[in-house]
Amino acid sequence: MRMPLIAGNWKMNGSLELVEQFGRAFAETGLPPSVEVALIPPAPFLAAMQAALAGSPVALGAQTLNPEPEGAHTGEVSAAMLGEFDVRYVLVGHSERRSMYHEDDAAVLARVKAALAAGLVPVLCVGETLEQREAGQTEAVVLGQVEAVLDALDGKQRARLVIAYEPVWAIGTGRTATPQQAQEVHAAIRARLGEYDSELAAQLRLLYGGSMKADNAADLLAEPDIDGGLIGGASLKTNEFLAICQSAG
Ligand code: G3P
Repeated sequence: MRMPLIAGNWKMNGSLELVEQFGRAFAETGLPPSVEVALIPPAPFLAAMQAALAGSPVALGAQTLNPEPEGAHTGEVSAAMLGEFDVRYVLVGHSERRSMYHEDDAAVLARVKAALAAGLVPVLCVGETLEQREAGQTEAVVLGQVEAVLDALDGKQRARLVIAYEPVWAIGTGRTATPQQAQEVHAAIRARLGEYDSELAAQLRLLYGGSMKADNAADLLAEPDIDGGLIGGASLKTNEFLAICQSAG
């Protein structure tokens, strides 16, 4: 049985005040025990979020990491630094990092390996553009991104991953993939995982990301191969994010 995971990716948004708002909201509102919840703030807020979530079951995540252990990488953060804030999850290969910061499959793989080596859980983000979908290339693109990482890992490493399918055309657009569209891609990813190892396919969590909101979360999460959500805009509003978490319960 895969425990649903709802993770909020704040991207380059938020404030210390919002961190405090979420700390209070989680303290005052019970989360369904059957759902794992994570918040992924910008790196400057990690210490405050760690303090705000102290005693809470909510896990802490990070939005990226540099694959090097330390050194002359101005503006970057290392896996070891994330570990100092009890970070559990780290996004790798988010489409915004692939497109705007030129992280290709090799760069994504290096970050996955660095995260694994530091005991973090990489959330491997994959997804196609609208042009690729309209050209019928969705599965080829998504499975290519999955294989570029998983082909290079051993069985134990693969089992530590979470994968997030985020159709680029649904991110931040308010245009959500239909449950059927999302399920189709999730099922294709799960089938591909089964070619590595049937147990891997059974236990690895596949999250959907791309305009998941309180009013559509239940329908998406009802799909058999959707094990949670990676939430952007809706994760900046306490009530809406909590409603999505409740939908997963
Ligand atoms: O990483 C999650 C993000 O890409 C989805 O953003 O605003 O469409 O929920 P949003």
